[in-house]
Amino acid sequence: MPNEYPSLFSPAKIGNLTLPNTLAVAPMTRVTATQEGVPTETMRRYYERFSRGGFGLVITEGSFIDEKFSQTYAYQPGLANVEQATGWSPIVDAIHAYGARAVAQIQHAGALSQGNRYRDGTIAPSAVQPRGEQMNFYRGEGPYPTPRQMSDEEIIDVINSFGRAAALAIKNGGFDGVEIHGANGYLLDQFLTDYTNLRHDRWGGNVEGRLSVSVEVAKSVRCAVGEQTPVGIRISQGKVNDFMHRWSETEAGAELIFGTLAQAGVDYIHVTEFEAWKPAFGEEGHSLVSLARKYAPGVAIIANGNLHDPVRALEMLGDGADVIALGRGALSNPDWPHRVSGDMALSTFDRDLLAPIADIKAAEVV
Ligand SMILES: Cc1cc2nc3c(=O)[nH]c(=O)nc-3n(C[C@H](O)[C@H](O)[C@H](O)COP(=O)(O)O)c2cc1C
Repeated sequence: MPNEYPSLFSPAKIGNLTLPNTLAVAPMTRVTATQEGVPTETMRRYYERFSRGGFGLVITEGSFIDEKFSQTYAYQPGLANVEQATGWSPIVDAIHAYGARAVAQIQHAGALSQGNRYRDGTIAPSAVQPRGEQMNFYRGEGPYPTPRQMSDEEIIDVINSFGRAAALAIKNGGFDGVEIHGANGYLLDQFLTDYTNLRHDRWGGNVEGRLSVSVEVAKSVRCAVGEQTPVGIRISQGKVNDFMHRWSETEAGAELIFGTLAQAGVDYIHVTEFEAWKPAFGEEGHSLVSLARKYAPGVAIIANGNLHDPVRALEMLGDGADVIALGRGALSNPDWPHRVSGDMALSTFDRDLLAPIADIKAAEVV
């Protein structure tokens, strides 16, 4: 039974959905779908372990949303057609079997695509070559190509595709909710980021303009899934290809971003930082989680970032989080909740798990 950390094991709410505890698995791309983006039996067994291990919520890896430019990696699962969405259903059943809830993360790569079976080339808010290099463990190599600037029609099409993918996730996949991937350098974050969005139309300019695609996506997803289904959005400062990025507008930017997303009708905001408890800007001040709590009243907050130590996790509940999401901590301890409630030791993360390719390893499906 839970002992030292009772609040971690108390029920939590996101929108209308009650979670058995505050512990979530963070979205993690493991490139183990078929080439066609259909989820596999290996994925079912991998995801089931987290629910069996006591997590109250499993957020899936990012699934691509259309058969155009959204696919990010080869062997990434999709939610772009009925076959892909239906393929998620046994995984959702396996997650439900042990009492956890299942949320599908939906994603568009934008300029960071490094493996797309549908189209050649990449698209983005502006034709700016991404910083950094492609990820080897997702079969990429060398610099990212320079993307083509999206047309207004393409932006509208992507907004609609997020909605369609969300509807497929709920109707065919059986998911309890959806999370829009607005973080970590992918398409929606490319719109939000000043140096990758050089547009002068309604999708660019100041923070409101740069956030407007995310707002429209949130509305499109809400419209597609209805009022009762939880809808969340993930937000970060850092990116997979620009780890240390900080919002130049600092707290005023955070106020606008979180306030606007709350007004757009999301049920939760998933805030991810490298170390979630650290000041969001500069050497001191509030964490990004506590700023989200402050500026998005009434919206549930999920905190992520190096929170595998239960003392830290508890601290973030005190800082305003409703749910704690673990990434690498869940990979090395798929039964983290059971271990912590049973006073058992935790394993440290072993990078070899993701080498040479980040696909699901045999040891993870026992
Ligand atoms: C292998 C791997 C794959 C990831 N894939 C995704 C993803 O699909 N979507 C996403 O939003 N974040 C993704 N992330 C980021 C994690 O959700 C999380 O933010 C990150 O691991 C930091 O949390 P942690 O310190 O608990 O590991 C991934 C991380 C890892 C390690």
